[in-house]
Amino acid sequence: MSGSDTANPYQNDRGNKDLSIGKPGGGTLTASPGTKHAMNTSQAFLIGDTMTGGYGNGPDILHACTIAVNPGEIAVIVGPNGAGKSTAMKAVFGMLNVRQGSVRLDGEDITDLSPQARVAKGMGFVPQTNNIFASMTVEENLEMGAFIRRDDIRATMEQVYHLFPILKDKRRQPAGELSGGQRQQVAVGRALMTQPKVLMLDEPTAGVSPIVMDELFDRIIEVSRTGIPILMVEQNARQALEIADKGYVLVQGRNAHTGTGKELLADEQVRRSFLGG
Ligand SMILES: Nc1ncnc2c1ncn2[C@@H]1O[C@H](COP(=O)(O)OP(=O)(O)OP(=O)(O)O)[C@@H](O)[C@H]1O
Ligand SMILES: [Mg+2]
Repeated sequence: MSGSDTANPYQNDRGNKDLSIGKPGGGTLTASPGTKHAMNTSQAFLIGDTMTGGYGNGPDILHACTIAVNPGEIAVIVGPNGAGKSTAMKAVFGMLNVRQGSVRLDGEDITDLSPQARVAKGMGFVPQTNNIFASMTVEENLEMGAFIRRDDIRATMEQVYHLFPILKDKRRQPAGELSGGQRQQVAVGRALMTQPKVLMLDEPTAGVSPIVMDELFDRIIEVSRTGIPILMVEQNARQALEIADKGYVLVQGRNAHTGTGKELLADEQVRRSFLGG
């Protein structure tokens, strides 16, 4: 998170183009349409691989669903309401019963680990709802985020404040008093406090204005450029795919389309069905 504040480096082609970050193996994607098995994700840094499962003993929500992200990448999951986007994220984070398939982090099978154990392994997760402690101050939220750490967290907190300067100004205020966009900054900042190796965000721009959305996306790009791969769900599909190295369209718990963000934006079927033409 030592990103520099020099002139906007993203102005031509947003998205993550930092070549200094290694992209070991894999990640070869075949363009959609209907690429059900066409992705080489075996080497992915974080992968929910052909996951089938649902809540408790209920019916399967996910059907051989695969989502993955590699170092240096922003991977974006889009799809209609109820498609299972949040469910797929929860499955990767260990909050769901994955009946078939597996979850792997940096080559290690973590399918049976608890969410807390996954945090200890380096996963940061910002859920779609209830992602801050509203009655606690901004700074207390960040401290809570660092709960698994035993070392000095001040440098990380300064990095979060550097990324989101407004949070430093408001650090003594209850987080619930902040605007929607600022609360999402608190949520992302809280997840960064564990110094994650990979960050998962479920609709980080929900309910914010287009300008605030753009700002949040820029901060997310900045985080990814520090070397933290980002796997995120977005309802603002078009804008999100513009910054995505990899995109997944989920429909009814299945992979409907997969490709680079550019490929999906150019795909006729994806445009017509999911991007409003
Ligand atoms: N805790 C739960 N228990 C049982 N079923 C659930 C639970 N959460 C979600 N579901 C069901 O799983 C399916 C997928 O929901 P999910 O929240 O994953 O969709 P989503 O793609 O994230 O939608 P949205 O765009 O509205 O956030 C839906 O049919 C939903 O009713
Ligand atoms: Mg959701």
